[in-house]
Amino acid sequence: MELNKLEFKLMNNPVRRWLQKNIEFKAFNEFLNKHNITLEGKAILDAGCGSGYSTNLIHQTYAPSELLGIDLMPSQISRAKINYPHINFEVGNVLQTNLPPGKFDAIFVFGILHHIPDWRQAVTELHRVLKPGGVCLIEDLNKDTSHFFATYLKLDHPPEAYFSWEQFTDSLEATGFTILNQKRIFTNGIGSFLCLKSS
Ligand SMILES: C[S@@+](CC[C@H](N)C(=O)[O-])C[C@H]1O[C@@H](n2cnc3c(N)ncnc32)[C@H](O)[C@@H]1O
Repeated sequence: MELNKLEFKLMNNPVRRWLQKNIEFKAFNEFLNKHNITLEGKAILDAGCGSGYSTNLIHQTYAPSELLGIDLMPSQISRAKINYPHINFEVGNVLQTNLPPGKFDAIFVFGILHHIPDWRQAVTELHRVLKPGGVCLIEDLNKDTSHFFATYLKLDHPPEAYFSWEQFTDSLEATGFTILNQKRIFTNGIGSFLCLKSS
């Protein structure tokens, strides 16, 4: 899987990094603070880490005991390894990570599920590798926003991964997550979720 040229540029530039730090990561931290959840010294996975910017934010913020960034794109993982040599990165697929069950206290997922036709299987796999009582922080696009970007910017967003928020939250809950907090921005088109592995 490769991002097309435009999406690659959209994901690898200073504006994207600013948004990720000051909007998306900030929203996750507000969720965690509100629920008195601390990730300091915990085991954390950054699923679909791209070139590793978010993984480094996680490293700087929580000093995790264990931190792994995975992404399907070998070129992004090569870039991540060069940018952040102090962090562990691997090429990996969130549909089948081959990681042990219950390995992580927390998983961050920044904007990847709208790329994955079988996004429900990705949710199931992330749930599997999370410890009971662990949290998954997900930021993603709903069907209208994903379709909008696919139509007007010609990004490769598979129609099978167009989901409404209702379908998305139903799937999280059916998998065994309890949604502790959620918010929407960009006229309801981008959602952030704090999910607890309750079963
Ligand atoms: C829109 S980019 C987001 C990258 C990064 N998380 C960010 O927010 O800047 C989507 C990323 O998901 C990755 N991806 C797509 N399908 C994946 C899969 N099945 N397993 C792991 N990563 C995947 C792509 O390689 C790409 O880096």
